Amino acid sequence: MKILSVVGARPQFIKLAPLHKAAVRRGLNHQVIHTGQHYDDNMSEVFFRELEMPKPDLNLNVGSGSHAFQTAQMMEGIETCLLEEKPDWVIAYGDTNSTLAAAIVAVKIHIPIAHVEAGLRSGNREMPEEHNRIITDHCSDLLFAPTETAMKNLAHEGLKQRSRLVGDIMVDSLDFVQETLLNSPIDVQKLCNTQEEFILATIHRAENTGDASRLESLIEILSSFHIPVVLPAHPRLVSFCKKFNIELSRGSLKIIPPLSHRELIATARTSRSVITDSGGLQKESFLLKVPCSTIRTETEWEETLVGGWNIIVDDLSNLEALAMRTKPLPAEEAPFGSGDTAGNIIDCLLA
Ligand code: UD1
Repeated sequence: MKILSVVGARPQFIKLAPLHKAAVRRGLNHQVIHTGQHYDDNMSEVFFRELEMPKPDLNLNVGSGSHAFQTAQMMEGIETCLLEEKPDWVIAYGDTNSTLAAAIVAVKIHIPIAHVEAGLRSGNREMPEEHNRIITDHCSDLLFAPTETAMKNLAHEGLKQRSRLVGDIMVDSLDFVQETLLNSPIDVQKLCNTQEEFILATIHRAENTGDASRLESLIEILSSFHIPVVLPAHPRLVSFCKKFNIELSRGSLKIIPPLSHRELIATARTSRSVITDSGGLQKESFLLKVPCSTIRTETEWEETLVGGWNIIVDDLSNLEALAMRTKPLPAEEAPFGSGDTAGNIIDCLLA
């Protein structure tokens, strides 16, 4: 069987790695198209190196641009490749513009398409990721849901027949990274340039970066914390701060370049708590048993809210006190599966 994965952005490389390894183990021919949505070394190549994946078979080098421009360029390149390669399955991951492009192309030329991380919904129709998720799920022939909640969402939209509960592939990935950290640890104090207890923060979503006054108050609040706030700055954050004339390096904020995945996991698990608008980091914090404060109005990962491990903080005025809350009691359930998701997905594809 020949399967072809389409990826393009950071979180997709993390989901690709376990699937690639499981596919190779089971003797499948697995090819990878990289759309080029993320292109800096620290946003792309470093993930392939660290997660021990070969270079993609094809890179479309689409780069940045408006949603329509970026998605259209990707679609052209993906279509040409799929017509040539004729895979048995196309695999799309998550909720980026690269996911959407793969799904629309494959369904139109009648190549079966499977969506890894299907069924997530925020209910927020302003998010580009929400558009991408919904359209991708409705185009897909097999929907690999990470959680019971995702299964319910899919059933609610009439997609139950095509849905399979396989667990969350990020657990597979996290297990792998934790193992590599045992063998070759990372000096987090050196990386973050602090000997003190610190908070890890990440900000990149359109709703936090695109509005000047929201962004300024977020940065001002983080910079007034009484302990260091280490912030690996996503290029989107840096470019919006420049555009709005917002000074990032101030007060308690320690701005560092984007971290590799191993570095991020090492930093998150050492931190006092995490403040983020990333979906992946909410879950990783939960799995690493680090309290997380999510600076959004909702989350797709409501399982992380149980026991107070993750909290939604819309009103930022109380952010420091919330971020410094005491650790909740350990959760007894494993809502994201047990780390065998990639194998479950290959089983479904072969069946
Ligand atoms: C995308 C995804 C988002 C995901 C995130 C992970 C969409 C709509 N959004 O957002 O769901 O959580 O990836 O990071 O697909 N840039 C660089 N170097 C790079 C890549 C981007 O400098 O390697 C800059 C460019 O100025 C670009 C901006 O970052 O305009 C945003 O990049 P883009 O890929 O459009 O979206 P993300 O914000 O990364």
